[in-house]
Amino acid sequence: MKTTLSIIKADVGGFPGHATVHPDLIKNAEEELHAAKKSGEIKDYFVARCGDDLDLIMTHDKGVDDKKIHELAWNTFISCTEIAKKLKLYGAGQDLLSDTFSGNVKGLGPGSAEMQFEERKSEPILCFLMDKTEPGAFNLPIYKMFGDPFNSAGLVIDSNMHHGFTFEIYDIVENKKVLLNTPEETYDLLALIGGKSRYVIKRIYPREGSPVPKSEAVACISTDKLSKIAGTYVGKDDPVAMVRCQSGLPAVGEALEPWAFPHLVSGWMRGSHNGPLMPCSMEDATPSRFDGPPRVVALGFQIANGTLGRPFDFFKDKAYDRTRNKAIKIADYMRAHGPFEPHRLPSEDMEYTTLPAVMKKLENRFKEI
Ligand code: 13P
Ligand code: 13P
Ligand code: MG
Ligand code: MG
Repeated sequence: MKTTLSIIKADVGGFPGHATVHPDLIKNAEEELHAAKKSGEIKDYFVARCGDDLDLIMTHDKGVDDKKIHELAWNTFISCTEIAKKLKLYGAGQDLLSDTFSGNVKGLGPGSAEMQFEERKSEPILCFLMDKTEPGAFNLPIYKMFGDPFNSAGLVIDSNMHHGFTFEIYDIVENKKVLLNTPEETYDLLALIGGKSRYVIKRIYPREGSPVPKSEAVACISTDKLSKIAGTYVGKDDPVAMVRCQSGLPAVGEALEPWAFPHLVSGWMRGSHNGPLMPCSMEDATPSRFDGPPRVVALGFQIANGTLGRPFDFFKDKAYDRTRNKAIKIADYMRAHGPFEPHRLPSEDMEYTTLPAVMKKLENRFKEI
């Protein structure tokens, strides 16, 4: 029997502002998923949060894009929104762009990442949850895990990893996708994914010779763009991802190594600024300064016969203290630019923010030069 891992997430109200998820929302989501586990609809669950984003991590046997699972997540977000409205939480129901569920959360606002696979003898999986950033924030770390021999020693010294991987890239502007193989197409791959606001890694597949079947994704990233769906600024598309590890795939430590570098991502303050991505524990995933800096949480699970068990919260570790300090220094440096680029996003990316309304006022004031 194959196992499916689904993370479906949404911001249905921040407490206070865009900082965290209110405990009453967590409690409600846990109760809903507990009932679904009891009735056999899902096998296991863990309700997580990163900043103001509520992340429903679920295992089941229904495959990806299952209507029942998506409906369960949707209904959970709806009931959490009702509580958020009563508490007058900020942006209650922010990410729910429709009044009605139409079979899949895709296109309705929430983000999702899902994988179906045959459980191996041991199935270590990392779930990454982000806040105050966008799907392209995963490009650099996922590339490092699966494509960079200076990050993942297994690409060099493990014969089960030596064949490389297939990267599935989405062009989220044109709604197209392309498959590229590493190592031989590394330069083409980097030419695309370096442009992280347009080209995003959606999935990674193993290649011929890997102990994991070629048809099974070994990593999946949520790529849902709220602004593209709504056509206007609603909130940022804070993404999630899942990465299977070990035995022909990056070791857990290789999947954690890229995060020691707090790379610059977009999505800080009003979804309009670049800033460093700071790895932290779920407890510390509480954006504050300038609504940030952007955060990433890493929860590790050992999936066993469809059960998730409790997660191990990796970025709690002291090994990431220096990264956090560096991120804070970079935050000082970026903040010193105030409203200037490259702290503020380039004009193309500001199209979906609140800036165009301000620019409109000046429209008639311009004269030919
Ligand atoms: P596996 O090849 O069993 O995944 O072991 C590699 C490892 O754990 C190195 O840290
Ligand atoms: P969220 O997308 O996390 O709700 O943040 C929006 C924002 O404007 C933060 O300043
Ligand atoms: Mg919010
Ligand atoms: Mg958020």
